[in-house]
Amino acid sequence: MSVAGTSTTPEGRDMQCTPAPGQGEPGLAVDPDELPDGLVVADAHGRVVCFNAAAARITAVRPAEALGQSLEKALPLEDLEGRRWWQLTDPYGGLAIRKRQPERNLLLPGGREVLVSARYVRDEPLGPVRRVAVSVRDTEARRRTERSHAELIATVAHELRSPLTSVKGFTATLLAKWERFTDDQKRLMLETVDADADRVTRLIAELLDISRIDSGRLEVRRQPVDIGAAVSRHIQAYVAAGQRADRFLLRIEQPLPDLWADPDKIDQVLSNLIENAVRHGEGTVTIDVTPSASPREGEETGTSVTVSDEGPGIPEESMNRVFTRFWRGSKRGGTGLGLYIVKGIVEAHGGTITVGRAPEGGAEFRFTLPVSAPAYLA
Ligand SMILES: Nc1ncnc2c1ncn2[C@@H]1O[C@H](COP(=O)(O)OP(=O)(O)O)[C@@H](O)[C@H]1O
Ligand SMILES: [Mg+2]
Repeated sequence: MSVAGTSTTPEGRDMQCTPAPGQGEPGLAVDPDELPDGLVVADAHGRVVCFNAAAARITAVRPAEALGQSLEKALPLEDLEGRRWWQLTDPYGGLAIRKRQPERNLLLPGGREVLVSARYVRDEPLGPVRRVAVSVRDTEARRRTERSHAELIATVAHELRSPLTSVKGFTATLLAKWERFTDDQKRLMLETVDADADRVTRLIAELLDISRIDSGRLEVRRQPVDIGAAVSRHIQAYVAAGQRADRFLLRIEQPLPDLWADPDKIDQVLSNLIENAVRHGEGTVTIDVTPSASPREGEETGTSVTVSDEGPGIPEESMNRVFTRFWRGSKRGGTGLGLYIVKGIVEAHGGTITVGRAPEGGAEFRFTLPVSAPAYLA
């Protein structure tokens, strides 16, 4: 891209950044106002000749005010110690071997943080600086991820602390006053310690899953999966553990297309959804397995699994938050990570998941997986 001299169109639009006729390759000219990052260009005298739309948005200075000003006035940057950046770096007077300024975190008036880097354009090596091109980037997105990481760590620390406090408290009590408790009291305390240790273990396993999901490292090892049989196994496990058999209703619509998926991960999804329906929901838990349109393009069919119950359901206003990590509606002992992991696993399979209201009034979670047969079977 090349930068032409100052001119203003009849509409008042500043044309300073557009290539001059005959300069640069036609068709390759980029309108600086289309750039996502702020671009400020100063000429050989340090006068601003280009101040694009993103620069205006980030600095809240109008291009018309910035153009023709010195860099120092148009872009009054300071470093984090409050020193004026243009005086410090002195692009026109500094070392003649300087070609650029690496990216820095700097402050605009009012304390707004921006990422700034600059390039010094010289006609010949060691010659005078003909142009200075400055890129200005918003740090908001980066700050947001940093904030969310910090929040995650704070939440995790808090979640780990409460079970560990109880483990520590009960073991210390037992060690100090072993003789004074009856066997039943000791058993009760050890049971609590046991349950809390399980909770910590589970939390850590979930956190590891989350870190794999967040970094895109969740591996999906596909093989044929009989999802109806998998659901049926989960139901049997609940019944064996004391749930009434008529609490569950499994409906499988045949014929189902083949399904290639990671059986362990699908088990994790089913176990989370069914556990939620049992724990947070009420009444009959209905699981429908049906053929459906594939969520993946270029594939005809897929498999849908719908888990619904007759409990209170998810309030309308919370539906878009149930899949976020640590979101918990009720205080029934969970970590709030289950649905986040479920969504991560389903999406790693190329599937989709939605939440809604069941016909009976409870919560209804429905996920759809593509067939994903390996290419050699297609
Ligand atoms: N079937 C359901 N009925 C009512 N609420 C539910 C249901 N499933 C999930 N929820 C709500 O969504 C929240 C998040 O679920 P989840 O991520 O599995 O975390 P956890 O089960 O550990 O609390 C739960 O705390 C609960 O409030
Ligand atoms: Mg759960």
